[in-house]
Amino acid sequence: MSLSFQLDGKVALVTGASRGLGAGIATGLREAGATVVGTSRDPESAAQVAERLGTVPAVMDVTDVASVRSSIDNVASEFGRLDLLVNNAGLNVPQGVFDVDEESWDSVIDTNLKGSFFASQAAARHMVTRGEGGRIINVASQAGVVGIEERSAYCASKGGVVLLTKVFAIELAQHEITVNAVAPTFVATELTRNTLEDPEWRERILSRIPLGRVGEVEDVVAATVYLASPAAAMVTGHTLLVDGGWTAW
Ligand SMILES: NC(=O)c1ccc[n+]([C@@H]2O[C@H](COP(=O)([O-])OP(=O)(O)OC[C@H]3O[C@@H](n4cnc5c(N)ncnc54)[C@H](OP(=O)(O)O)[C@@H]3O)[C@@H](O)[C@H]2O)c1
Repeated sequence: MSLSFQLDGKVALVTGASRGLGAGIATGLREAGATVVGTSRDPESAAQVAERLGTVPAVMDVTDVASVRSSIDNVASEFGRLDLLVNNAGLNVPQGVFDVDEESWDSVIDTNLKGSFFASQAAARHMVTRGEGGRIINVASQAGVVGIEERSAYCASKGGVVLLTKVFAIELAQHEITVNAVAPTFVATELTRNTLEDPEWRERILSRIPLGRVGEVEDVVAATVYLASPAAAMVTGHTLLVDGGWTAW
């Protein structure tokens, strides 16, 4: 039997690769052999990402469909192909349901849900035209599978991503493009710093994770590299929970 987790010869694009999970995922895919382009909204930080990954800078704001399309088109034309898209860019504005304002709601939904949709659409167009299959991996969240207090917009956005994953998987299967999601529990990044530094929240979170710890960036990288790899060729439409058992209760 020969199981392959290698990505040699593949070109990958990771949105939001300037820090946190996206930076880790970009590095993990590169270590697996892929050529990896990582995006940031900020040109200076995009240049730093490019230097780290040894590729080209890519500036992209996922809430701006024109920016998404031009950035993805540039990568496909620069490298002559695009095999893998990781929709990682995302944000959260923790608010109780009575505090949610329109601006916060729109920014969470536009970044996490609309951004993932239009980036997948643009990348899939290139994959279908080239005719050699491909992979799309969405960074969803356990919050797309269970409700978490003070995260109504975030849960709605990630629940939407879980279902987008299924619809894209069904429509793109005929082109040998698989579409899956990883759904982490809380991982210490800039996104979760305030929550995890709050002793009451931290205690509440740990009490809900049977494995007794929050996630590490590496836990999410491993799941993503697996879904990107030839070993996962028969897996599509799936959301892989990396949650230490949070949703197993
Ligand atoms: N950390 C967790 O506990 C956790 C758990 C489950 C799921 N997730 C998901 O994992 C993903 C990454 O989260 P993280 O924890 O690594 O967060 P992070 O450290 O705050 O990083 C977020 C990344 O997204 C990018 N980004 C934000 N808004 C963007 C936009 N409009 N257009 C393009 N890029 C944008 C940022 O890039 P620039 O600022 O450089 O543009 C940054 O690279 C998110 O989708 C998040 O929902 C995180």
